[in-house]
Amino acid sequence: MNFSSVFAILICYFLIFNNNIFGQVIISNKEDRKWWKEAIVYQIYPRSFKDSDGDGIGDLKGIISKLDYIKSLGVTAVWLNPIYSSPNDDNGYDVSDYRNIMKDFGTMADFDSLLKGLHERGIKLIMDLVVNHSSDEHEWFKQSRRSRTNPYREYYHWWNAENGKPPYRYSLFDVNGNAWQYDSLTDAYYLHYFSRKQPDLNWENPKVRQEVFDIMKFWADKGIDGFRLDAFQFAAKDTTWPVFPKGFEKKFTLYYAMQGNLHGYLQQMYNDVLSKYNVMSVAEGAGNSFADAHNLVDNDRHELNMAYPFEGVDIASPGGYSLLHFKEVFSRWDSAFQDNGWLSIFLSNHDQARMVSRFGNDSPSYRALSSEMLTTFIMTMRGTPYYYNGDELGMTNIRFTHIEDYKDVQTLNGYQHEKNIGGDLDKFMKLKAFESRDNGRTPFQWNYSRNAGFTSGTPWIKVNSNYKTINEEQEDKDSNSVLNYFRRAVKLRKEHLVLVYGKYELLEKNNPDVYAYTRTGDQEKILVLLNFTAHDAIVGIAADITDAKLLLTNYQYLPKTSKKSITLGPYESVIYQLKN
Ligand code: GLC
Repeated sequence: MNFSSVFAILICYFLIFNNNIFGQVIISNKEDRKWWKEAIVYQIYPRSFKDSDGDGIGDLKGIISKLDYIKSLGVTAVWLNPIYSSPNDDNGYDVSDYRNIMKDFGTMADFDSLLKGLHERGIKLIMDLVVNHSSDEHEWFKQSRRSRTNPYREYYHWWNAENGKPPYRYSLFDVNGNAWQYDSLTDAYYLHYFSRKQPDLNWENPKVRQEVFDIMKFWADKGIDGFRLDAFQFAAKDTTWPVFPKGFEKKFTLYYAMQGNLHGYLQQMYNDVLSKYNVMSVAEGAGNSFADAHNLVDNDRHELNMAYPFEGVDIASPGGYSLLHFKEVFSRWDSAFQDNGWLSIFLSNHDQARMVSRFGNDSPSYRALSSEMLTTFIMTMRGTPYYYNGDELGMTNIRFTHIEDYKDVQTLNGYQHEKNIGGDLDKFMKLKAFESRDNGRTPFQWNYSRNAGFTSGTPWIKVNSNYKTINEEQEDKDSNSVLNYFRRAVKLRKEHLVLVYGKYELLEKNNPDVYAYTRTGDQEKILVLLNFTAHDAIVGIAADITDAKLLLTNYQYLPKTSKKSITLGPYESVIYQLKN
């Protein structure tokens, strides 16, 4: 063997063994690189994405027909809202069979082709795991309610009526706000934190845990890549049923989240399932404090991979919000997770109404610009971005004015409750126009044709009438569209790892109009400037951008810069690469 072949072998050795198990070259020893930290997650609400058979309901074949579109976005993972068998009291969040596909959505063969199609395109699949509760039509519950001695009785929480009324528990979706539902068959009450058709599973029962772990293995063995744990922070209960203080429901997560042996159950889940597969796991929520969130996701805990805190999305209100508050919240969360643990970054999902209507400005003049500005924010923060389908087109709230148009159990039961107590229904409807979950669930707007190309039948929920101006076909052709801006922002995040791992530093903390920050890594420093207003805004940090390279802007021309400041136009967003 001559000198040059020894040298070549050494080089190969170096290249191979400096790759981590996911085949990525390690850029910095400080970083614990993981595919799920680098993922860009696209959330699909299957009921509203694409209907293939004309029944007015989106389905798996519909998603399959759009796989090339999903690939064209550049996203690297898809989170699917629940697709399991369900009577649809809460659009699939009430599961009646965890190992089968909802009839409206198709068959297991369709699921297998979807998974294959995603994997062929290098896209991972994350499934919703809804196990704080099941449907009341699940076989477990049907058995459980049958008699007090049924073997499934302890799969749920029951309170026998001869013991008097159970201590009040608040229900998020119940018409009366009461989480205990009386069942005359066995003269007992069962617990449901969500609707009456969503009885809470008894996680204190080891058999329930085993059932859930087996279900998870069933899906992981199929090759899925992760789980989103729906409402799981509420799963463990204090079954001594203490009386909670009057009015506790206003801060119910303080009493419901992270109770009992929740961490013990998650550690068991990790040991039995999560650690055995290359799957990621994301909590819904993050408890009530940073300590709670860290306890869920820090490396040495061996529980979940990332938290999904709501404090950021909760800032939006019909009267607007303060950017100073927004900056403070996201900066505080970032700094609390600088050294350990990992977070999600998102501004909308199937429970939150439309991103541009809540955080941007959906008037015709600013809808596109403000959508792009918000996309820039999501794609340049630390944490894993979760992006909700339709936001890449800048889809807006539909703002129904008739209660009959709403389909969401939370909105409908809330309305009934308001009516029962003689509340202000006009006020209720105005609030729902801003925040009802149905705003984010109207059909995806594919093209100019009838029903926006979503279905050839009658859509299960009305299509937003603005589909003639906001649709995928039109935006795909226009290089300046919200859609093509989204593709550029995704590409940029993938090309600059500093946007995933780099240190985040807030600039101009007290600027009420502009969100400015840097992301700094070993080899690269990036500056992000976002004007959150509909007027020009000045940011005074321009001195050192003379040699900076402009990486992305949502304007057609360069920002107005002077020696000391930059003036950003309405909702202008710019990303610079700074000289290091
Ligand atoms: C989660 C889901 C929501 C659902 C609820 C009950 O919050 O995101 O859509 O209604 O749990 O499962």
